[in-house]
Amino acid sequence: MAGKRELTLRFLAEPTAVNFGGNVHGGTVMKWIDQAGYSCASGWSGCYCVTVYVGGIRFFHPIQIGSLVQVVATIIYTGRTSMHIAVDVFAGDPKNERQQKTTHCIIVFVAVDETGKPTAVPTWTPEAEEDKALEQYAVKLMNLRKGIEEEMRQYLA
Ligand SMILES: CC(C)(COP(=O)(O)OP(=O)(O)OC[C@H]1O[C@@H](n2cnc3c(N)ncnc32)[C@H](O)[C@@H]1OP(=O)(O)O)[C@@H](O)C(=O)NCCC(=O)NCCS
Repeated sequence: MAGKRELTLRFLAEPTAVNFGGNVHGGTVMKWIDQAGYSCASGWSGCYCVTVYVGGIRFFHPIQIGSLVQVVATIIYTGRTSMHIAVDVFAGDPKNERQQKTTHCIIVFVAVDETGKPTAVPTWTPEAEEDKALEQYAVKLMNLRKGIEEEMRQYLA
């Protein structure tokens, strides 16, 4: 049976995450995204999972050190062995409830067996209109990616 489709990590942005501009380092945000995506993918599939693709990462706003951060990972499409996960990062002052979306991206994980080979995952079937739209969003991005990979082919070898 599949696990939960959505997962949220919550924590404070620590001073050790600072960049040269005084805010949270972009690489740290990417690590949080990968961790939330990994937990979501592993929870859904019940398997060890590896990142196969990170796409369209967009940083809208900086995150201040000391912010309360929420990293929300949601499965929006499942293939045979892959899980496409939308990750949104929200941050705000812990003294009030206002949170701002600071980052969005799509990250794709593949479930692997003990030998590292891709293995089948439970299918996620959208029912709500909002979820069907999210699945369409994932499919559109997948098709766009084919063009991007074609363009990148000579550098991928
Ligand atoms: C992930 C990995 C096992 C896939 O191996 P592979 O030989 O490409 O396997 P397949 O061709 O059978 O593809 C497996 C799945 O990955 C998906 N995939 C492959 N390339 C992809 C890409 N560029 N973008 C999105 N999904 C991709 C395939 O669509 C397939 O999904 P599906 O079964 O749902 O259709 C292999 O590429 C790998 O080990 N990569 C390194 C992973 C890693 O080290 N990550 C960083 C640290 S966790």
